[in-house]
Amino acid sequence: MDDLFGDMTATLPKRQELAAGAILLRGCALPHEGVVLAALQDIAASAPFRRMNTPGGFQMSVAMTNCGDAGWVTDRSGYRYDANDPVSGKPWPAMPDVFRELAMSAAREGGYPDFVPDACLINRYEPGARMSLHQDKDERNFTNPIVSVSLGLPATFQFGGARRNDPVEKIVLHHGDVVVWGGPSRLYYHGILTLKDGEHAQTGRARFNLTFRKAL
Ligand code: SIN
Ligand code: FE2
Repeated sequence: MDDLFGDMTATLPKRQELAAGAILLRGCALPHEGVVLAALQDIAASAPFRRMNTPGGFQMSVAMTNCGDAGWVTDRSGYRYDANDPVSGKPWPAMPDVFRELAMSAAREGGYPDFVPDACLINRYEPGARMSLHQDKDERNFTNPIVSVSLGLPATFQFGGARRNDPVEKIVLHHGDVVVWGGPSRLYYHGILTLKDGEHAQTGRARFNLTFRKAL
């Protein structure tokens, strides 16, 4: 059947600017979905998803793990990057080549040709999970962009501005979509609205998000 009547996402523009320095690349990860999801399973087998606690003592609704030289963690003492998984005491799994290459090629398409990630935070959202508006600011410097890959169930991404109260744009992110933000929008507030229930052919009742950073 014709695209028009098939996948509704096929009619969305491939490339959309969200703010200065922030670009949405629709379907950018689709050519790699199989290898990426297989690599994600291997990572979760050695560093299982866990729901971390915020410094304020709340348990996050999103479950997380990491790969790469540094992993983002939170507990009662604060947010930070750590070379080791605090659950096992061992280094986080290495970043798979396919992850690094996907992040670098998306960054290049987004206008950041020099980006080489050393950290990948992996978020798992089950129905009901959400991530409130925040800035990514635990990295050593902000000269590099953030590259964010969405897999599985769709979710509504909020992208605001430099201040928490700035108006937010709401964009539905689908399986394979990638958002890159850096430069003037590197510290812009963003978040994910409560995940609706659903079933995805590749991931079941879940959404995964890979957030690539240069942390160190
Ligand atoms: C994040 O900001 O760490 C996650 C964003 C997302 O899940 O798309
Ligand atoms: Fe973030």
